[in-house]
Amino acid sequence: LPEGGVLPFDFGAVAGFLHRSGGEVRAVSATCTHLGCRLNLDAPARRLNCPCHRTSFAVDGVVLTHQLPVTPPPLPHLVVREAGGVVEVLVPPAGA
Ligand code: FES
Repeated sequence: LPEGGVLPFDFGAVAGFLHRSGGEVRAVSATCTHLGCRLNLDAPARRLNCPCHRTSFAVDGVVLTHQLPVTPPPLPHLVVREAGGVVEVLVPPAGA
């Protein structure tokens, strides 16, 4: 994952997007905080778009644009770690 890069991942129960910024890898959920639609990655724009009601998020989870009466919350971050060139995402156990 190069600096500035964005990668989607999907473990079934948990899906999200990894991005590297300032050398650090971070991850956000791929589930829109409005009503739970799956976000789509617009890689060239480094933007996560919701197909349901046109909200868009930055890859760090901040809301960029929306047309809702109330601004939805930012995307939650997921716990990640990187060791030896391998990035791991902590996925909570089912039912947690
Ligand atoms: S579910 Fe994403 S904006 Fe409504």
